[in-house]
Amino acid sequence: MSAAGDALHRMLFGVMSVVSSRGQGRLLGRYFDWWHRKPDPWNYHGEPYEKHKHQRTIEVLPARPYTRILDVGCSEGTFTHLVSAAYPQAETLGVDISQRALSRAAAGGSSARFLALDILNDSPGGSFDLVFCAETLYYLGRSGRLRQASARLRTLLAPGGLLVLTHPWPEARHLYRCLDADTALLRTAEHVDDESDRPFAITIYQRKADG
Ligand SMILES: C[S@@+](CC[C@H](N)C(=O)[O-])C[C@H]1O[C@@H](n2cnc3c(N)ncnc32)[C@H](O)[C@@H]1O
Repeated sequence: MSAAGDALHRMLFGVMSVVSSRGQGRLLGRYFDWWHRKPDPWNYHGEPYEKHKHQRTIEVLPARPYTRILDVGCSEGTFTHLVSAAYPQAETLGVDISQRALSRAAAGGSSARFLALDILNDSPGGSFDLVFCAETLYYLGRSGRLRQASARLRTLLAPGGLLVLTHPWPEARHLYRCLDADTALLRTAEHVDDESDRPFAITIYQRKADG
């Protein structure tokens, strides 16, 4: 998408976030069901840039015996299945606001499970030692909603657990300002990939053991 297209896109989602958080969730649910009217709308299976981003995210993960993994905003589960195959001993869950996307995700690829929920308003229950959230935060609009989502992401982490975020660079720095300000979290790594004309960053936060 062009810079002007990106700006319009962010504006549309900013407007959606003016209503109550539940109302925003309903709008996002309808929008993303419509967006998924055709399979693989972002071409995760064919686009080399998307494949590279998924692969890099797996590569930069600290080697640990993860047991509970969560992928927030998983769409049709392309990355969720990849991570589930990389950590077959772990229980992997993908969540998304689009029921239509999830019915395709559940059709196969790995032992990952999928659940429809709105990350602003709902929780999958329990805590996770590895949580991913990629290319999702800029859909949440105004800063209050970003704060709400950031707090939710933190509460999903077990003490010592890792939160791995992948978003466009340098926009990522703005999207993560609530996470940076959260004293329960420590930013442990940031990998900026600027090899293409669409730079992105993979940023890792750790929940403090006593946080
Ligand atoms: C661009 S896709 C990212 C897919 C995947 N994370 C990746 O990078 O391969 C963004 C996804 O976020 C989901 N989403 C948007 N708002 C959400 C919310 N409030 N709660 C849960 N999922 C949401 C959309 O339905 C969409 O499938």
